[in-house]
Amino acid sequence: MEVKNSVQAIMNRRSIRKYKSEQLTEEQLGIVLDAFNWAPTARNAQEVRAIVLQDAEMLKAFAADFEAFTTATGGKQFKNFYFDAPTLILLCGDKEFPYTGIDSGIAAENMAVAADSIGLGTVILGCIRNYMADPASALWREKFGIKDDEMFTIGLAVGTPDCEIPKGAARKEGKIVFIK
Ligand SMILES: Cc1cc2nc3c(=O)[nH]c(=O)nc-3n(C[C@H](O)[C@H](O)[C@H](O)COP(=O)(O)O)c2cc1C
Repeated sequence: MEVKNSVQAIMNRRSIRKYKSEQLTEEQLGIVLDAFNWAPTARNAQEVRAIVLQDAEMLKAFAADFEAFTTATGGKQFKNFYFDAPTLILLCGDKEFPYTGIDSGIAAENMAVAADSIGLGTVILGCIRNYMADPASALWREKFGIKDDEMFTIGLAVGTPDCEIPKGAARKEGKIVFIK
């Protein structure tokens, strides 16, 4: 397997929104989940958990319920929010721990970079946050095994890109301040 170094992967990674239907191999999934597992965590709490969804029918039904929720609540419409990726990884963790969100973000990016380095595509997905915090998604939280004392934090769609790697939006200037 060809593996890019981490700087190449960080610079080349772009959000992918079109995937082939083929599932990740065991080896590919293992690498992505190792990247989750070895992410640093505040106070070494390691309390963020990853739920790996690979049941295509379940994913479609979940996306349809999410779409219905966005329609009913009058927010931005989200059709097929996970872009038919063969794998969707949901991160969740302790509601009360102050670093759950940050630890999740770090783990998500670790996975995204590892995935890119082995030729996979990803997109980080925050759009389901409100839905996952709403009583309307209670049945899904139960199906996914998200506990009452946990909150959903972020999702990551993973698969083989079925498109050119996008150029990516230009990055804003002036975000870096030097004090020498
Ligand atoms: C916390 C977070 C949440 C995001 N949520 C979504 C999302 O719900 N749907 C989506 O299509 N992209 C989502 N993105 C992807 C961003 O839109 C994307 O990273 C940004 O436009 C820069 O493009 P690039 O990733 O190709 O460099 C999210 C990214 C982050 C970091």
